[in-house]
Amino acid sequence: MDTIGRVLVVGSNGLLGQKMAEQLVRGTSYRITLASVEREPVRELESAPYVQLDITSHKSVRECIAQVQPDVIINCAAMTNVDACETERELAWKINVSGVEYLAEAAKKHHATVVHVSSDYVFDGKAGPYTEEDKPEPLSYYGKSKLASENVLLSAAIPSVIARTMVLYGQAPGVKANFALWLIQSLQARQTVRIVDDQVGNPTLVDDLAYALLRAVEMGKRGIYHIAGRDIITRYEFALRLAQVFHCDASLIVPIKTASLKQPAVRPLKSGLITLKAEVELGYKPSSVEHGLEVLKSQLRPEH
Ligand SMILES: NC(=O)c1ccc[n+]([C@@H]2O[C@H](COP(=O)([O-])OP(=O)(O)OC[C@H]3O[C@@H](n4cnc5c(N)ncnc54)[C@H](OP(=O)(O)O)[C@@H]3O)[C@@H](O)[C@H]2O)c1
Repeated sequence: MDTIGRVLVVGSNGLLGQKMAEQLVRGTSYRITLASVEREPVRELESAPYVQLDITSHKSVRECIAQVQPDVIINCAAMTNVDACETERELAWKINVSGVEYLAEAAKKHHATVVHVSSDYVFDGKAGPYTEEDKPEPLSYYGKSKLASENVLLSAAIPSVIARTMVLYGQAPGVKANFALWLIQSLQARQTVRIVDDQVGNPTLVDDLAYALLRAVEMGKRGIYHIAGRDIITRYEFALRLAQVFHCDASLIVPIKTASLKQPAVRPLKSGLITLKAEVELGYKPSSVEHGLEVLKSQLRPEH
């Protein structure tokens, strides 16, 4: 592969950010810089220097990008707690929208491409699964902020890739417990878990998403792509399959309805992302739930 120069991974301490950095460092000829809001990287990666960057600071974004001079900026930073976004709207907007505006502005100045990650929560979940052409209609403030971030890029007149994904699962050092990790911990501790059986979608192995983003960068793609797992199932069904792969007691899993949780943010119910465009254009091969969970299991082994 030809060298395409410098890549800046923003939000590099998060789940996707770490996987992205891992894949970029492994066997590519990019010069990589990692950046996240914390003072230190969670993991030192050889040949990838780390800078502290809070994307809500316009000045810091300008300075960081002027210094790194990236050809590609991969934005993995976001406020991802959906209920916190509902109650802390100002902060959610600052991180999820203003931060992207600052990145886009600096990218324009330095002729960089922006690769950004959005969510199935831009849809209302009335008639999923969705294609890239379906009309977004977000229900929650998180969904609204992610849609606004897409619009920032689409109207910025810069080259960009927007990958919509959903229910990410995976393992990386120091990350917050995602749905799968929480389930594994709870079931292994023999705790009963109440899991919704009326939210449908395709859970996504985070390594698959990082791979697809790398393909999009390498192939110089532009536009919106849906990147998600192969199987469209309920959260309850996902939990049952996880129990099978991890040899846990499935009778600990109790099906419930979303409405009974009374969460601050409304969830799309019949969601799911159709990934055909990514499969055809990027050579993306989504993992089945069983395969994805086997990969996760191997990553959780102590020797990994
Ligand atoms: N997780 C999912 O199920 C899911 C589903 C659909 C879409 N997505 C999207 O996928 C992307 C990656 O998600 P993820 O699961 O990897 O999230 P994550 O693990 O929460 O990582 C996000 C990272 O961004 C950092 N960050 C927060 N505010 C920042 C700021 N002001 N400046 C710089 N960095 C900041 C976070 O630091 P702190 O942890 O210290 O705040 C964290 O390290 C996000 O755009 C998210 O919206 C995720």
